[in-house]
Amino acid sequence: MNAIADMRCVLVSKSLDLRRYLGPQFAHAADQVEIVSHPHEGSAADVRLAVAWHPPDDAFERYPNLKAVCSIGAGVDNILACPSLRPDIDVIRVVDPAQAQMMSSFVIWHVIGHQRCFATYQAQQREQRWRRLGLGQRRAQDMPVAILGFGEIGRRVATDLAFLGFPVMAWSRTAKPMPQGISGFDGADGLDAILGQTEVLVNLLPLTPETRGILNRRTFARMFRGGYLIQVGRGEHLVEADLLAALDSGQLAGAALDVFATEPLPPHHPFWQYPRIVVTPHDACEVSMEAIGATFRATAEAIRAGRRPPHSIDRERGY
Ligand code: NAP
Ligand code: GLV
Repeated sequence: MNAIADMRCVLVSKSLDLRRYLGPQFAHAADQVEIVSHPHEGSAADVRLAVAWHPPDDAFERYPNLKAVCSIGAGVDNILACPSLRPDIDVIRVVDPAQAQMMSSFVIWHVIGHQRCFATYQAQQREQRWRRLGLGQRRAQDMPVAILGFGEIGRRVATDLAFLGFPVMAWSRTAKPMPQGISGFDGADGLDAILGQTEVLVNLLPLTPETRGILNRRTFARMFRGGYLIQVGRGEHLVEADLLAALDSGQLAGAALDVFATEPLPPHHPFWQYPRIVVTPHDACEVSMEAIGATFRATAEAIRAGRRPPHSIDRERGY
């Protein structure tokens, strides 16, 4: 341990080289914290903090005094799924308004793409075909959009879409006051009600036992015929076969998918070639290094002070 470090933090990931990913800016943010890589062979008892992304199953077994695990993203499902995460360990998410803004622009791209038939123009250009869509043009106010999840990111997306003139509805677990121009829904009845008025469905839910598989046949069947799915939550929210069936039947006109149950999307997966599916590689929006650094610093300070770190998620709720 160096002279000024009073805490040891372990970096744990089976999918990323976290030391390289976080870079020198993070080392600066981690002032007074010694950063070690998992598996740490030295004095594991000194490890009180971890930064993790897709940790291996046994990752946390070796650190008996671990107090908190920081995610490097908004989502924490990959950390909560780790069997060696003890119930007393705090799990901290990143809250980053810059990330919410990037997500908003990504969702708007797809909403307007559906509204203005971008895919049709692209197909026409490939055939060098000059054809105006004319009366096919639709106004924003005629295209209702529902956002599943009205949290740090969903709220920003909903607000921006409402500003652009789309009728926006938002669904959350608990009822809450809504900003002007956004209609709020909650609970199972709320989901049923919102879907019955939805053309474009945006999934911005965290992955929990309650939300797993929520994008399924029944969900799509409740939406307007010819609807559109923007799936930016987690891959496990979607029942993949049900999406393909809804597209084949014309119940859905198309889908933009950024997250998948298996990432990277396997080479022979039908989503790659399906003409009305847009695939992006879990790239809708990055968390900024500044936000990761600030989260980490605040967590280390809280542990030193014996406080619960800010942005600790509710382990019971799963987000
Ligand atoms: P958040 O602040 O925790 O908000 C979650 C929202 O979902 C809240 O409004 C919550 O309701 C609602 N919710 C949770 N469980 C629910 C349920 N069973 N029924 C109805 N509503 C429920 O999360 P966030 O920061 O907005 O991020 C949301 C998710 O987006 C992340 O967990 C992650 O999976 C995904 N994400 C994806 C990318 C990407 O690049 N594709 C990037 C960032 C995030 P309450 O308000 O009532 O609590
Ligand atoms: C990305 O998926 C995140 O959770 O920030």
